[in-house]
Amino acid sequence: MNAIRRPAPDQPGLTVGVIGVGVMGRGIVQIAALAGARVRMADNRPGAAETSRKELQATLGKLVEKGKLTAEAAAGAGERLVVCNALEELADCDVVVEAIIEDLGAKRALFAQLEGIVRSDAILASNTSSLQVTSIAAGLKHPQRVAGFHFFNPVPVMKIVEVIGGLLTDETVVDYLLALGHHWGHVAVRAKDTPGFIVNHAGRGYGTEGLRLLNEGVVDVPTLDAILRDTAGFKLGPCELLDLTGLDVSHPVMESIYHQYYEEPRFRPQVLTRQMLAAGVLGRKTGQGFYRYADGKKELPPEPAQPTQLPASVWISSERPELAERIASLVAAAGVPVDSAARPNDGSLCIVTPLGEDCTTCCVREGLDPSRTVALETLLDVSRRRVVMTNPATSADTVAMARGVFGATGTPVSVIRDSAGLVTQRVVAHIVNVAAEIAQQGIADPEDVDRAVVLGLGYPLGPLGWGNQLGPQTVLTILHNLEQQTGDARYRPSPWLQRRALLGLSLHHKEH
Ligand SMILES: NC(=O)c1ccc[n+]([C@@H]2O[C@H](COP(=O)([O-])OP(=O)(O)OC[C@H]3O[C@@H](n4cnc5c(N)ncnc54)[C@H](O)[C@@H]3O)[C@@H](O)[C@H]2O)c1
Repeated sequence: MNAIRRPAPDQPGLTVGVIGVGVMGRGIVQIAALAGARVRMADNRPGAAETSRKELQATLGKLVEKGKLTAEAAAGAGERLVVCNALEELADCDVVVEAIIEDLGAKRALFAQLEGIVRSDAILASNTSSLQVTSIAAGLKHPQRVAGFHFFNPVPVMKIVEVIGGLLTDETVVDYLLALGHHWGHVAVRAKDTPGFIVNHAGRGYGTEGLRLLNEGVVDVPTLDAILRDTAGFKLGPCELLDLTGLDVSHPVMESIYHQYYEEPRFRPQVLTRQMLAAGVLGRKTGQGFYRYADGKKELPPEPAQPTQLPASVWISSERPELAERIASLVAAAGVPVDSAARPNDGSLCIVTPLGEDCTTCCVREGLDPSRTVALETLLDVSRRRVVMTNPATSADTVAMARGVFGATGTPVSVIRDSAGLVTQRVVAHIVNVAAEIAQQGIADPEDVDRAVVLGLGYPLGPLGWGNQLGPQTVLTILHNLEQQTGDARYRPSPWLQRRALLGLSLHHKEH
């Protein structure tokens, strides 16, 4: 590259080209213009750029009406928009962001054409979500000026952008885009050029583990979603999320990332969503997915009524003494005495508290009567929902009594079938493990992984911060037990996580 002539990101006069003014391009134009850049808008659909400019003007007007923007700011941004009818009109751009169709050939052809138009110090940025930046840049005269600039939909609302340097990208280009993203009001994080970058990689844990629980018959769809919303604090359960995104989008992404990582078992998709995709049962957009939608509203079965049957007493396993008081207080709230004998009395309901194990294993190890034994989820919040797990021999009366005890104060109780790590433990530990591997592979700094996931996926906590809250050792124990019980390499703990757990270090610890 010759001498750099582009102004600093926050300097007036910065000229940004946006090519492809569809869903994403329009959002990028909006934030760039509002931050003071002159924006050149281009699209190969005749009239699209002008239509988009008018729509943006209308959006800015609405923001003024709502009091979210001053009239001066809106007018200034509007004046900085220029519609281009030919790529040659982008010649004076300092940065060009492409948000065209997700097709490697199309993006490569566009960048090759742009190389003959823009200055040699102009940055070429791609909003790709699934292509490798290195591949987009390959074959160009100046691959060092190409980087990923990955925004999320809707761009003005999702305040996160991943900046991705390809193998040949100049570090100053990455630094510039980090500063530009920041100036445009977003949290800009650096990510390595790997499949899914940070957010779409970290997001592999949630949906695939949820689908796996469905596949194993552990839970039904509404129960799975309710458990993860109420105990872990996700805004949407995995099936609700898949219905919202649409399986025509989500299933191919699941398959693509799985294959791009050479069939990494941690990302293994499930047959169920492929079948739903084949049947056109895509989610909200088709009126039926995991749920049915009538007039856009989800139809939900009512919560099962809680039986009032209560046991004579409740015996609580002493394997995890730290939980005894908490569980005893739940039992006391139902007005049922705790059986504190070393071995359960006849007629006691038996409660085990697995960490990464199933109810059967705990029951057999402790020599309990399986017909009277259930497991209780204790990992996260039990104030909004209690989760009781049976084993194959648990009697119907025992289930009714467990519902009676744990639902006595009106808290909903979900009953699930036997599963190593119940639902919440499995899903959260898997998410933490996937994030630990992202850190292990140097795809992003641990703090950035968390920032990107909270802003990009709306999780209640960053996965590594979540691991810290639970304790890295607890997460490790869940994963070890899951791996042992299932024999599935999917749950093998990341060495990055293991080391930090063994050393008692925070998952945000910075290594020298
Ligand atoms: N939609 C999302 O949620 C999302 C999120 C992050 C990243 N992305 C990525 O952003 C890019 C755009 O996605 P979108 O959802 O905005 O698509 P879109 O279909 O809404 O918009 C694409 C626009 O690009 C134009 N276009 C297509 N080929 C072109 C070409 N060769 N030259 C000029 N214009 C061309 C189209 O006319 C259209 O206006 C893709 O790379 C996509 O993977 C999308």
